[in-house]
Amino acid sequence: MKRNGLIYAGKAKKLFLTDDEQVLWVEYLDQATALNGLKKDKVIGKGQLNNKITSRIFDYLTEQGIDHHFIQQKSPTEQIIQRLQIIPLEVVVRNVVAGSFAKRFGLEEGQELEQPIVEFYFKNDALDDPFINDEHVLFLEIASKEEIAELKQLALEINHVLRQLFDQLSILLVDFKLEFGRNSQGKITLGDEISPDTCRLWDKETSRHLDKDVYRRNIGEIVSVYEEVLDRLEQLKGGK
Ligand code: C5P
Repeated sequence: MKRNGLIYAGKAKKLFLTDDEQVLWVEYLDQATALNGLKKDKVIGKGQLNNKITSRIFDYLTEQGIDHHFIQQKSPTEQIIQRLQIIPLEVVVRNVVAGSFAKRFGLEEGQELEQPIVEFYFKNDALDDPFINDEHVLFLEIASKEEIAELKQLALEINHVLRQLFDQLSILLVDFKLEFGRNSQGKITLGDEISPDTCRLWDKETSRHLDKDVYRRNIGEIVSVYEEVLDRLEQLKGGK
C-alpha cells in the first residue's frame, strides 16, 4: 500500500490518502495540545505512544466483537484505517465525576456515577465544541433519531468492555471521548483514537492521573505517564 497526499492535518494526527480510496494512512504526531489548541507543545515520543496504545485497544475491541475503523499498525507512528465519513460529534461517556462535568455542576471530582452518562458535543473548533442535546443533533441534521440511539448504545457497550480492560490494568476509566463515522455502506463505525489523550485514567491504588490531565493541569510529564499505560497493556498481552 502506498501513502499518497495529505488530506487532513489535525492537532495530534495527520491523515493521508492511499492507493485504495476506502483506506487512509494516519500519522500520530509528537504534539500535545489542550484548551482547543491554545496550549501547544512538541512532546518527543508521544506520537509513538498514542499509536501503540490506540492500536492495542482497537485489537482488544476486535476480540470483544466491536467494529471499528482500525486495520493495522504500519510503523511506530503510523496506522492504516478504514475511511469513514466522520459524524461531527464528540461522544463522551462518564463513569466518575471529573473535568467539565464537575465544573458544570459545581461538584468535586471523584464521585462514581450510578449509571454511566453519555453526552454529545458538536465538533466545531470555531464554536469551541459546544455541549448539545439530541434535539440539537436532529435540528443540525447530524444524525437521525435511530442513529442517535445507536451511537448511545455503542458508546455504552464500548464503555463496558473498556472498563473491564482497564480494570485488569488496575486503572479506573473515569471518562472518555469517542468519534464515529459512516462507512461506505452507511454503517456507523467507531473511528479516531482511544488513548490517554482521549480518556481520563486514574491509577486504582493511588488515584494518580495517567492521562492528558497531567499536561492540561501541569501536574506531571506526559511521556512517562503514557509509557506506564502502554507498559501495563503490554504486560497484560504478554501474560495472556
Ligand atoms: O473536558 P471533559 O471533562 O468534557 O472531557 C471528557 C473526556 O473527553 C475526557 O476524557 C477528555 O480527555 C475527553 N475529551 C477529548 N477531546 C475533547 C474533549 C474531551 O478527548 N475535545
